[in-house]
Amino acid sequence: MSVLALWPTNIWAENLTGTLSSETIDRLIAIGDEYEAAHPHAHKPAAMRGGPEVSYNLLKDNRPETVTFKAILGERMRHLAHAEGFEVETEFEAVCALRRFGPGEYAKPHNHRSVDYVAVLWLSLEQTDDRGDRHQRPAGNRLHLIDPIAARSRFLNHTMLHAIRPLPGLLVIHPAHIFHTSEINLGGVDTVALVTNIRVIDPARHYIQL
Ligand SMILES: [Fe+2]
Repeated sequence: MSVLALWPTNIWAENLTGTLSSETIDRLIAIGDEYEAAHPHAHKPAAMRGGPEVSYNLLKDNRPETVTFKAILGERMRHLAHAEGFEVETEFEAVCALRRFGPGEYAKPHNHRSVDYVAVLWLSLEQTDDRGDRHQRPAGNRLHLIDPIAARSRFLNHTMLHAIRPLPGLLVIHPAHIFHTSEINLGGVDTVALVTNIRVIDPARHYIQL
């Protein structure tokens, strides 16, 4: 075992603009908005909303744009799983929803309970600073992935804060346990993204109901 393999955190980051046309991206926004309008309580945690299921899953939609996105996501997830050392027959399940962050809004630092990976596909946003010389100054919409484990390996020159500058068509998949936060949307329009929670289907676990 080499020192550099001590604690890898694998992150998938890919610009899909060559694969998803701007028309496809616009359609994904329209489809997501349609589901948002029909499911106003979709983002309330399941244990707090009670009653019948009120969330939705864009991956159940059978229009060409969502079917294409689902295929891309599955393919990329299998690549990432290979890098993570999973067996090839490992299967995943996922739920996808549209999220909007209006001007002045941001995602508080959080991670995701009960899932293994999170995928974000940015669909639309206003770039407020695309320069690389603004060290430690907010660029707006930038996603920060926070890896406290990396911070323990000072001698490896790791940083615990990995910044991603989103563009429409950028897909990022990261482990769900990684804390993440977005900078405030400094633009004048909504930042729109598809957020997918992904978990490993693990039939070998012998959990029982309490
Ligand atoms: Fe998140």
